Amino acid sequence: MGTVEATRNEQAATATEGKADALTITDRRTGRVYEVPITNGTIRAMDLRQIKTGADDFGLMSYDPAFLNTASCTSRITFIDGDKGILRYRGYPIEVLAEKCKYLEVAYLLLYGELPNKKQYDQWVHDITYHTMIHESLKKVMDAFNYDAHPMGMLISTVAAMSTFYPDAREVHDPEKRTKQIHRLIAKMPTVSAFAYKHSMGMPYVYPSNALDYCENFLTMLFKTPAESYTPNPTLVRALEVLFILHADHEQNCGTNAMRSIGSAHTDPYSSLAGAAAALYGPLHGGANEEVLKMLEEIGSVSNVPAFIEQVKQGKGEKRLMGFGHRVYKNFDPRAKIIKRMAEEVFEVTGRNPLLDIALELERIALQDEYFVKRKLYPNVDFYSGLIYQAIGIPTAAFTVLFAIPRTSGWLAQWQEMLEDPEEKIARPRQVYLGPGERPFVPMEKR
Ligand code: ACO
Repeated sequence: MGTVEATRNEQAATATEGKADALTITDRRTGRVYEVPITNGTIRAMDLRQIKTGADDFGLMSYDPAFLNTASCTSRITFIDGDKGILRYRGYPIEVLAEKCKYLEVAYLLLYGELPNKKQYDQWVHDITYHTMIHESLKKVMDAFNYDAHPMGMLISTVAAMSTFYPDAREVHDPEKRTKQIHRLIAKMPTVSAFAYKHSMGMPYVYPSNALDYCENFLTMLFKTPAESYTPNPTLVRALEVLFILHADHEQNCGTNAMRSIGSAHTDPYSSLAGAAAALYGPLHGGANEEVLKMLEEIGSVSNVPAFIEQVKQGKGEKRLMGFGHRVYKNFDPRAKIIKRMAEEVFEVTGRNPLLDIALELERIALQDEYFVKRKLYPNVDFYSGLIYQAIGIPTAAFTVLFAIPRTSGWLAQWQEMLEDPEEKIARPRQVYLGPGERPFVPMEKR
């Protein structure tokens, strides 16, 4: 689109789309009128560039800090309608997938666009199962961390280190090599995560077992010791499976945006994924589940809830109700609903988590308080997931790791889609420069 005259733009829009969906813009600085085509409910920011005040004007840009209203890509993986509380992977509602599927089935769906048939699924499970071991030298890398290293810090660094073990991962345009890294990453994330946990406990690593499925294997690597046999409880295995499905993808969130952005430089997937995991680590993102538990412990009892809510309201954004609010969901987070239901099943096995009553009271009060209602703040995926992780026996510091494991399939699906997108280019936003203009240099003795 490079036309300036309205009539030519109209023709172009009609020719491109077969219909004249367009935005008419009048530039009051020049009095000129432009027509910018609308496709899929969006205008292309580059179509604004033609809007200039003169030949030496760079052209109009859009300014959108934090991408509040900017689509950075097209995608066919995950659909969210934040107002209606809808989340679908490849067209399938999250509620259906959470009820009927195993995590690896959903990972396949995200990556390949269709649910696997039996043969495809068996092959996929085999490919993942046979890549769960990690190089012994990588284990030594993990050994080098201090005893109290945060498991997310260990995970991020170890995944980045994996890029040095698989130099073929740099060939990001070779689909076969990409598939190999996908198998490795999905398979090894639970192993690295469990090793990080064992390291923090000062306990020997438990190696993966090919006799177990993905979630059973992970729980066994976490909780088995050489001294005792361990059989994970089927209810807890299923709960983990559901939590993994709910966390597998969430379109262009902060971590996924990091994955696509780093990957757009054709960086290998291990380094890109380490960057995505680093974004996830933040307390406003995947780190929130850890913060929710700290918050519930800080509140301490149901009777302290009203005072805490008051502090949040008076704090005016300084103190937040962790696990509440979402950039996209402004009605409810469908994942939170599923998790809340599942928590009851888990607590039947593990005994009721005493923090649940505080969480329920927080939710009850917040949902009827004008401050939260007006701002459309509802419990998000992290509000109840931490309580389940804690009931399973996972320490608070490892919660975000349990988010990163399943999100790996989503990150890889988005990375692969980005690489195959004909419009793909290195991600490089513009800025609005507000600093000083050119000024004379002042030697140090004169400053
Ligand atoms: N508690 C109290 N007030 C809040 C909260 C909260 N949890 N979240 C937002 N607000 C308030 C803000 O102070 C702001 O108020 P104002 O209009 O008076 O200034 C208003 O609601 C809008 O908040 P924003 O920060 O503009 O909303 P944004 O969409 O940028 O933030 C976010 C979304 C980061 C998730 C935010 O709601 C938050 O910090 N929540 C707590 C952390 C959390 O649970 N994160 C996990 C998100 S899910 C995930 O990443 C997996």
